[in-house]
Amino acid sequence: MDKITAAKEKFEALLQAQLQRVERLKAETGVTDYPSLEKIIIGVVGGDGIGPAITAQARRVLAVLLRGVIESGRVILRDIEGLTIEKRAALGKAIPDDVLTELKACHVILKGPTTTPEAGSPWPNVESANVAMRKELDLFANVRPVRVPEQGIDWIFFRENTEGAYAVGNAGFEVDEDLAIDFTVTTTRGTERIARAAFEHAKANGKTRVTAVTKANVIKTTDGKFLRICRKIAEEYPGITFDEWYIDIMTAKLVDEKRRKQFQVFVLPNLYGDILTDEAAEFQGGVGTAGSANIGARYAMFEAIHGSGPRMVKEGRTHYADPSSMMRAVAMLLNHIGYAEEGDKLTKAMDACAREKKIAVTGREDGATSEEFAAYVLEKMDAYSSSSRKSAR
Ligand code: IPM
Ligand code: MG
Repeated sequence: MDKITAAKEKFEALLQAQLQRVERLKAETGVTDYPSLEKIIIGVVGGDGIGPAITAQARRVLAVLLRGVIESGRVILRDIEGLTIEKRAALGKAIPDDVLTELKACHVILKGPTTTPEAGSPWPNVESANVAMRKELDLFANVRPVRVPEQGIDWIFFRENTEGAYAVGNAGFEVDEDLAIDFTVTTTRGTERIARAAFEHAKANGKTRVTAVTKANVIKTTDGKFLRICRKIAEEYPGITFDEWYIDIMTAKLVDEKRRKQFQVFVLPNLYGDILTDEAAEFQGGVGTAGSANIGARYAMFEAIHGSGPRMVKEGRTHYADPSSMMRAVAMLLNHIGYAEEGDKLTKAMDACAREKKIAVTGREDGATSEEFAAYVLEKMDAYSSSSRKSAR
């Protein structure tokens, strides 16, 4: 077969898969209403690398916060094993089938980082488990807050999570030895729902500005469509100012101390969201401090924004990994499933620990271990509970 025919066949398969996906999106119904569920099953997946260690500490805090409802049986913490790079590599699958079945039997998931094989690594080229899970469970909104109150930073990013450069990130191909092609995808439904999520969040939280970030001046078709749809959705929210930026100048403006305070809610395609949220998290103390919510209509998954820290594992520093990102993920999870008070309590305790710095995690032996840090957060939570009990008396 000549190479153009071979490439056409691959492209055709890709188009078919995407068109089928669009039909599924159009047929989508039903949103999980967590507070009305009789039972909520929280799946806990450790992942690999530093994942299991930091997830265990986050789970510990979660179990304390939900003690009562776990005892009454309303909430179930279910540990799910097997989302490891070894097993994924052996099976050649981003998510082993049995793990996926178990995940789908939960209502919400707390997930530790998983190793993403990269070009040149010893692992086979399986798709990232994060990316696969976002697609499989249709977790279209990647919501990432970044706050640095003393610098006036209070941002929340709505990163589109299932399309853009990631939609077919594993389906690009080499046409011949001199030409490689990748694809990026924007759909009407996919963009409408992320834009609406950003505006709804703004409306519900008294935010006055939503900022779209694209590169529509160059990536004219897909980013152009994304931006056009954001503009259209913006018209439904007359009380909210909508503005448009390109990703290059936005990365610069985030370091502009005067300008950056003005931004509130961001909406952006997948890849730009990936990049900009790492930059944003750096102001808050690094990716180790940032949690990430992956929200769909039916499921939701909460995780750290960073990877599995292979360097830390190799250097024997796993137990010094910062569990803050996973604890922030727990706070977001609690808010999402209707335990906002418990979520706030954790957030306040973590903010207090970050301010007071009685102990701090550095990732190395000059800092606290993950376990010590979790104990510190638990102690702070306890102190808050007893002071609120006192003032209630
Ligand atoms: C993130 C991560 C993932 C991504 C990686 C691990 C595949 O960087 O959640 O931001 O690129 O989305
Ligand atoms: Mg990232």
